[in-house]
Amino acid sequence: MKRTKISNLLGEDFVSKTVCVKGWVRTKRGSKNVAFIALNDGSTINNIQIVAETSSFDEEILKDITTGACISVDGKLIESQGGGQKVEINADAITVLGLANADTFPLQPKRHSLEFLREKAHLRFRTNTFSAVFRVRHALSFAIHNFFNEKGFVYMNTPIITGADAEGAGEMFQVTNLDLDSLPKKEDGTTDMSQDFFGKKTNLTVSGQLEAELGALALGEVYTFGPTFRAENSNTSRHLSEFWMIEPEVAFNTLEDNMDLAEDFLKYCIKYALDKCNDDLAFLDKRLSEEEKNLPQEQRSEMTLIERLNFVVENNFERLTYREAIDILKNSKPNKKKKFQYLIEGFGADLQSEHERFLVEKKFKKPVILTDYPKGIKAFYMKMNEDGETVRAMDILFPGIGEIVGGSQREENLDILKARMEEMDVDQEELWWYLETREFGSCPHSGFGLGFERLIMFVTGMKNVRDVIPFPRFPQNADF
Ligand code: 4AD
Ligand code: MG
Repeated sequence: MKRTKISNLLGEDFVSKTVCVKGWVRTKRGSKNVAFIALNDGSTINNIQIVAETSSFDEEILKDITTGACISVDGKLIESQGGGQKVEINADAITVLGLANADTFPLQPKRHSLEFLREKAHLRFRTNTFSAVFRVRHALSFAIHNFFNEKGFVYMNTPIITGADAEGAGEMFQVTNLDLDSLPKKEDGTTDMSQDFFGKKTNLTVSGQLEAELGALALGEVYTFGPTFRAENSNTSRHLSEFWMIEPEVAFNTLEDNMDLAEDFLKYCIKYALDKCNDDLAFLDKRLSEEEKNLPQEQRSEMTLIERLNFVVENNFERLTYREAIDILKNSKPNKKKKFQYLIEGFGADLQSEHERFLVEKKFKKPVILTDYPKGIKAFYMKMNEDGETVRAMDILFPGIGEIVGGSQREENLDILKARMEEMDVDQEELWWYLETREFGSCPHSGFGLGFERLIMFVTGMKNVRDVIPFPRFPQNADF
């Protein structure tokens, strides 16, 4: 018999039809006469209940049906006798496809800590929390492509192996096929990179932006959606060494247009998840409320997860300049009372996550777009403002997350760009191709990068970025 997905059975009127379902056993309970099996096949957060009359089955088979085992069930879909579910399956035949030793299967039907489950990343898909998170992750990927496709953007794949350091931050993973135990040396004792695979030093990309700009200056509107790699040694709940980034780049857009695009984009994605992931978000909403019950009052969210998502969709983001933010922070209570770890003295200070969170969570209580940062703390490619001190940068800050988007209007003037590169010690020869776009038919353009995992954190309410990507990479960890 052909298998039907549990999501379809629960959603449609199959009652009194004979069906076949396949999935993994979440729990089995029952009495001498009847066994109740909760079965999940990943198509929905909801399990279907299988009712098996013990007299109709081999004792051995029923014994083999333990938490974690994979089974196939043929039976009749009937209206449920008990509460809690609308329909259930009265089993006629059960085949055990894969046993799961009850003594060693790590996921018992009880609450496991997220830390424990991270060590079992190969099996954590089988929990309610992670299956919900990864279905939401899927929905958000789809929303992203939909959004840009509907607007006529061209999806562009930028290289993963690159010779350029886009952010100029230098925190890159080197790619080589040289034998590290016997490196070819030049006369001066340094490694002869001309003998490496590509004939020069290469790295994993930290951003597809510079290449996306090349595309935008011909195709008009492009976006990338791919993996990016950063070898920063930040062991925080918001940083991964390998994460996914979405980078739209648009010819003729000003910083204002860029902000409008980013705000529309974020709202579209969140709304899409609210529309398409009802059951999963309802589950995650409840999960978060329960998790927060154990926190002191002041650390609990004022809104539930779903309230917060609706709030972001329905309200305008607060827009202010870096200078305005610094004024607010300088005169804020935590700064005056020296509660910030990094005190704000004035213009030039790099904002730490404690400052971002103050602005978003205490002062404005909504997403904030900060613009016009000092040139010294931003990348070389950002367009210089008339004041000669600030650049047309924008960061979008979200409650509970901090920075979710970073972007800017780009410097399109060749001379100013060259001067900035000199100032910031960025190699101009290496980026000859980038500079040529300013030489031939340059134009104003803007773009931004959204950290995909940070968006998923916000939408699912998960508090650690390691819990929203199937197999997280972070310092000292590349398991699975
Ligand atoms: O602010 P970032 O570094 O900006 C860029 O890379 C630009 N080239 C983007 C552009 O203008 N096209 O990174 C963009 C976003 C951040 O706002 C953050 O959400 C995310 O990427 N991000 C990370 N996410 C997870 N782990 C990390 N280590 C991250 N670093 C940045
Ligand atoms: Mg940034």
